[in-house]
Amino acid sequence: MVKVADDLYIYNKKNSAKLFRQAENVIPGGVTANIKHFAPYPIFMREGKGSRLIDVDNEEYIDYSLCYGALITGHGHPNIIEATQKQLLNSGTAIFGTPHELEVTMAEKLTNLYPSIDQVRFTNSGTEAVLLAIRLAIAYTNKQKIGKFEGHYHGGLNKLLVSINPSKTNAGTATSPSSVYESDGITDDEKANTIIFPFNDLEATEVLLRKHADDLAAIILEPVQGGFIPAEKKFIDGLRTLTEELNILLIFDEVKTGFRVALGGAQSVYNVKPDITALGKVLGGGFPIGAIGGKKEIMMQSAANAKGDVFAVGSDSKATTNVVFHSGTYNGHPVVLAAGLETIRLLEKEQLLENLFANTMQLRKRLESLYQSYHIKMKTIGMGSIFNIVFIDSNVQQHRDMWDANIELRHAIDMELLNLGVYLKPLNRYSMSIAHTLKDIDDTVKAHKHAIENVFNRKRH
Ligand SMILES: Cc1ncc(COP(=O)(O)O)c(C=O)c1O
Repeated sequence: MVKVADDLYIYNKKNSAKLFRQAENVIPGGVTANIKHFAPYPIFMREGKGSRLIDVDNEEYIDYSLCYGALITGHGHPNIIEATQKQLLNSGTAIFGTPHELEVTMAEKLTNLYPSIDQVRFTNSGTEAVLLAIRLAIAYTNKQKIGKFEGHYHGGLNKLLVSINPSKTNAGTATSPSSVYESDGITDDEKANTIIFPFNDLEATEVLLRKHADDLAAIILEPVQGGFIPAEKKFIDGLRTLTEELNILLIFDEVKTGFRVALGGAQSVYNVKPDITALGKVLGGGFPIGAIGGKKEIMMQSAANAKGDVFAVGSDSKATTNVVFHSGTYNGHPVVLAAGLETIRLLEKEQLLENLFANTMQLRKRLESLYQSYHIKMKTIGMGSIFNIVFIDSNVQQHRDMWDANIELRHAIDMELLNLGVYLKPLNRYSMSIAHTLKDIDDTVKAHKHAIENVFNRKRH
């Protein structure tokens, strides 16, 4: 049994404990997103600066969560602050509630960076982007079901809250995984319309695709599962060929990977064109956003111009039945788009992403040698600016491979790191930013060394 550093955690983070107790009275579970909870209680932050976060007890951390990957320029990059301030001051308003120029600028930018995208719609989150992608696919193919891969996360959509983290006992067979729902409150109708596929297993995927081809509107995947388990090239190529043959739309959920593994997302790394792409996170420069893009004939289904507006009271309701509904009060928010455009402008600077990827690789390699020097079986897995640390000897190509990882040790190390000034929600993946310096990398490696020794010492006592 690996002991964790709870005692020190509770000693160091008293103000977080106090706030959490208060929060629990008025916010279910004390957090506004389930993912933000961890035991004994999450850390409440009050300030961010570059690669650093400072909590309500004045403890400073090198941040590797970066708001679950959204902050690729780090906290409070001066260009992003300036761009958003300027947008507010120059326009004189937070939002127009009408079309505006930045929507066109960003849509054009995305069509240039992502060759699979002819047209774009904006949303306020990745979840909403996936929601529209699915609705468009069902309308386009006139089929009812959606395929998703075991271990992949696509936001809070009822239909897709399934088999994200199933365990050995309930996941079914490797070639035809069971549906394991991750939330209560999902209707049987919704459950009946999602089919689970095995990631990186082309043979088994082909069998299931052929079996359900008449019902499947689309299959959605994270081309890099969880942001850190890359699809094999031959798997992605095979999936593209099969979906074309079987008239099933291929949806890439690039909410994590967009701009983080390459400016043009994982699809540019694999050189594959999905039919629809969902984007989010980095695209908003730290502000809430999602976007979907795809082939014109698919996207145009949501164009209401010629067909009618569902909100025009008294108009012919039949006219809107052929339109795929998409709306949202805050869609295309100008301040968010200003932040997102400035983020992309920064990332387009020569060598910037290359340097970020090189720094990420340096951290990965140094951590690997550190753990090796302690004879701990550990691998880093990832792509571009995202990676994960897995205590395992064997290959990791899909969710089931993670069942063999030493989660207990990983959790113990993560809890130590939270006491040593490295922030990551325990067991989560690492994201790097352009604000992380070589000194941050040195300090992180030192903190890991310290964490390993603390875990060993606790085990002995
Ligand atoms: C791959 C993927 N899709 C969709 C989402 C949902 O995005 P949001 O949290 O903005 O709704 C996430 C969020 O982590 C994600 O990682």
